[in-house]
Amino acid sequence: MDDAEPTDRGQVDPRNRLNDLTGREWIYALRSVIATRYPTSGVEGYAHALRRGHPSPKPPQLMAELIRFFTKRGDRVLDPFAGVGGTLLACAIEGRQGVGIELSAEYGAIYREVCQRLELEPQTVVVGDARRLGDPSFIDQQLFDLILTDPPYAQMLAKPRTGERKKRGQGEATPFTADPADLGNLGYWEFLGELRGILASATGLLKPRGYLVLFTKDLQPTPEHHNMLHADIVAELRSLPNLTFRGYRIWHDMSQNLYPFGYPFAFVSNQVHQFILVFRKEA
Ligand SMILES: C[S@@+](CC[C@H](N)C(=O)[O-])C[C@H]1O[C@@H](n2cnc3c(N)ncnc32)[C@H](O)[C@@H]1O
Repeated sequence: MDDAEPTDRGQVDPRNRLNDLTGREWIYALRSVIATRYPTSGVEGYAHALRRGHPSPKPPQLMAELIRFFTKRGDRVLDPFAGVGGTLLACAIEGRQGVGIELSAEYGAIYREVCQRLELEPQTVVVGDARRLGDPSFIDQQLFDLILTDPPYAQMLAKPRTGERKKRGQGEATPFTADPADLGNLGYWEFLGELRGILASATGLLKPRGYLVLFTKDLQPTPEHHNMLHADIVAELRSLPNLTFRGYRIWHDMSQNLYPFGYPFAFVSNQVHQFILVFRKEA
């Protein structure tokens, strides 16, 4: 970790209904940029060698930081795109109850193996299509305190890479699955519509004043569209009833490699950050 957390906890305000943080910890949790390089080996690696059976696992410590701000101990957290369980592992670490939906049985199995390896309590994982979230025979319709999720970034991983990365032998596409139900296999606009539908059902399962916290990343712009996926997701979700956009944080992933994209002709951004979009259900 590169950001140092406060050591002296300070006081917990008895009026705080959102989380178990003290004033000092609250301030630290508001900084707009989280700049971190999480270990990938040893105890702090959280069995990364197993989790990297998935193309983009999230560090459990990062998810834990968000869970500590948006919930209290014992609260219920939903992740409709659970992957190999970054959110669910953080729930076990932080004493929250996690429920994850994941399309791929293989990723669900890796998650269970990680829990065994780390001796962490496995959370509930439902293997299937998150479009079924509103169906009581698919998941228990008990309400959640937080939705914390990291959906595909439209087709970002399903397209072969070009340019500098192709030259370096990294041109292969790495889709999450070959399943047509995988949102990562959909074109940009279709992806946005399907994501909206899933998050509409998910927020139907969210308690009033509960938060929806969502990771995303922008695609490179094209002449046709700016491809700022974070902005398009905010625009899409603003139409959901009772959901308000509350702002975002940025995760600067300091472990990302840099490439000489565009050299020596033109500007092409090296995206080493992701957006953490924050919405609240108002009623
Ligand atoms: C960015 S990854 C999530 C990674 C996760 N945060 C982790 O730590 O492993 C997105 C996941 O969504 C899953 N997915 C895509 N479409 C889905 C759908 N319709 N229903 C449920 N899961 C889906 C993919 O299989 C993929 O594992």
